Amino acid sequence: MSTTPKEYKRIVLNERPVAEIEPTTFRTEILPFDLKPGNGEVVVRMTWLSLDPAMRGYIRDTRSYLPPVQIGEVMRGHGLGVVVEVGPGSEFSVGDSVSGAWGMTEYAVVKDSAIQKLNVPKGAEPLDFLNTLGFSGLTAYFGLKDIGKLKAGETLVVSGAAGAVGSIACQLGKRIGAKVYGIAGSDDKCEWLVKEVGIDGAFNYKSPTFREDFKKLGYLDVFFDNVGGAL
Ligand SMILES: NC(=O)c1ccc[n+]([C@@H]2O[C@H](COP(=O)([O-])OP(=O)(O)OC[C@H]3O[C@@H](n4cnc5c(N)ncnc54)[C@H](OP(=O)(O)O)[C@@H]3O)[C@@H](O)[C@H]2O)c1
Repeated sequence: MSTTPKEYKRIVLNERPVAEIEPTTFRTEILPFDLKPGNGEVVVRMTWLSLDPAMRGYIRDTRSYLPPVQIGEVMRGHGLGVVVEVGPGSEFSVGDSVSGAWGMTEYAVVKDSAIQKLNVPKGAEPLDFLNTLGFSGLTAYFGLKDIGKLKAGETLVVSGAAGAVGSIACQLGKRIGAKVYGIAGSDDKCEWLVKEVGIDGAFNYKSPTFREDFKKLGYLDVFFDNVGGAL
């Protein structure tokens, strides 16, 4: 039997930022614990919260693939958690590890349909579901496989190569058997990409010779662009 606290914390959008995120952008609220799951719902205790570039877009008041988070609403965010209470008819059990986008809150009532049970494969751990087995890994995997259709022997270039998605795209590219080149914003990142990630070469886009260096690469088959805009 799991115990629930007397109160819990959540972070809500306090005001819409004009440019940078300010200390006043978000507000922490402490609420009495009165969460009860309804039919087909569960109460989840957050264990890990993912901080993603997409979150900056969620608080922009413009049309996007998801509606903007409103002032006073819990900040949207993807995380991992554990089911602590199940409602009638829920297919989950207390103790199940799950992932979902219930936001920046220690506890949440969520519908069964809004969460996924984590079936952790051998050699992995739950936290991998926020990384290689989560959105970053899936974005890299389907970008390369379904969109890029990268094949062995081809040349792949990845921008934002040292980032979350980029570094996985680089590794998947090598695994597929491609020649892989990364673009990153510092010599340290480029060195890490070649020495640790194991790609064939890396270009620092801030170098004065970037354009000439990059042109020497010649033909490339797939460009996995994490950044957008002109090179
Ligand atoms: N993470 C996810 O689960 C996910 C899911 C779907 C889509 N995406 C999208 O995938 C892209 C990468 O996301 P991520 O999570 O991998 O982000 P990330 O870890 O923050 O990496 C992004 C990298 O892009 C580089 N960058 C930023 N501004 C740049 C510029 N003006 N020119 C060149 N490079 C620049 C930065 O590296 P440098 O220091 O090297 O410039 C930064 O580290 C984003 O467009 C994101 O919206 C991510």
